Amino acid sequence: MAGLGAPAVLKSAAAPRGYSWGEVEKMIARGNADGRLTVDDLPTPALLLDLDAFESNVEKMVRHAAGSKRALRPHAKTHKCAQIAKSLMRAGAVGACVVKISEAEAFARGGVTGLLLTSAMVGRHRIERAVALGRKQPDTIFVVDNAQNAQDMNDAARAAGIKFHVAIDLLVANRTGIQTGEPALELARAIDKLPNLKLKGIQAYAGGSSHVVGFEERKKHSHGTMTPAVETRWLIEKNGIECGWLSGGSTGTYNIDSEIDGITELQPGSFIFMDIDYNVIGGKDGPEYRDFRNALTVLATVISKPSREAAAVDAGFKAFATDRKFGPSAKDVPGLRYNWGGDEHGRLDLTQASRDLKLGERLEFIVPHCDPTVNLYDRMFGVRAGKVESILPIDARGMSQ
Ligand SMILES: Cc1ncc(COP(=O)(O)O)c(C=O)c1O
Repeated sequence: MAGLGAPAVLKSAAAPRGYSWGEVEKMIARGNADGRLTVDDLPTPALLLDLDAFESNVEKMVRHAAGSKRALRPHAKTHKCAQIAKSLMRAGAVGACVVKISEAEAFARGGVTGLLLTSAMVGRHRIERAVALGRKQPDTIFVVDNAQNAQDMNDAARAAGIKFHVAIDLLVANRTGIQTGEPALELARAIDKLPNLKLKGIQAYAGGSSHVVGFEERKKHSHGTMTPAVETRWLIEKNGIECGWLSGGSTGTYNIDSEIDGITELQPGSFIFMDIDYNVIGGKDGPEYRDFRNALTVLATVISKPSREAAAVDAGFKAFATDRKFGPSAKDVPGLRYNWGGDEHGRLDLTQASRDLKLGERLEFIVPHCDPTVNLYDRMFGVRAGKVESILPIDARGMSQ
């Protein structure tokens, strides 16, 4: 069980309402709700994590990975929270993926081991920080996609008297990585000759497959993208270089990639929270993707009610990431339409809403895109049956360096 909630003794404590702001502020600052805070006490906009849904998502993914004999190293850029990374590891994950060195440092400070940096350490300062991290946590894996960068990593490791575990990052999405086949083999040969690098295997993240709409279409896309990655692994091994590890996959392709022979590890991220972007990709059994539950919401307050058809909430561009074409969706009021109302506000169109709203009422909104939304908050509140069980700091918030 992922276990982010409070100990049972606190969960059963009475939940008196109506704390003063000063009392609430103290509990939030201490990072301990003592099992007494309720959702009604929270200042809005606030990021909420439905613990029942989160735990069910974790359990499902862990069971799937174990059942298909794949390691699970969830991507932590989704949650940026050391407590969540550690709860995933308690449930069975082998570590956590991160993108940037600053994120990795934050997770290492928080006691997270088994880090995989999914983006290469290019540049003097990044490499300097990679050395410090590699010294502190020798099980860290760094990706490389270029022979010069491999040489630079090797030289820095040699000067520090350490060895780096490295994985070849393959260009299977339109982003970073070296081309599959011969170019990757050449890089494997170069790494093999460098005494302070140890080749762990391959990273191949097929970002272009994860949100393909329709399960069969997604499957076809992922097979088309991941087959050259797996063939590259076999090519490297056929040439006498050990390459027994291949990490890839996403929330959209976890149950596709786990069936591809040669992929040894899954690195999905969004499944713990879900978002509208994933809800619409279509599942195995219908047009809505329901493999995982919506666990992440933004709590907002109705602060203006000019007419029966209109209302405004206190959550706008600064409360939700706005990188998708669609806006947030009200969790419990079908038909309610959210329209962006600028930096600080959302305009609600109630013409089709299932019910009217009251001034001061609080509403939960499912977010358009989870990762960049989480990055807007200092903490999220772990909630069960209206009570705040845990206050989870977003340790790596803003760490994009
Ligand atoms: C390298 C890498 N691995 C895994 C993931 C996880 O993908 P998702 O959040 O879609 O599950 C991402 C997401 O962008 C990624 O960049």
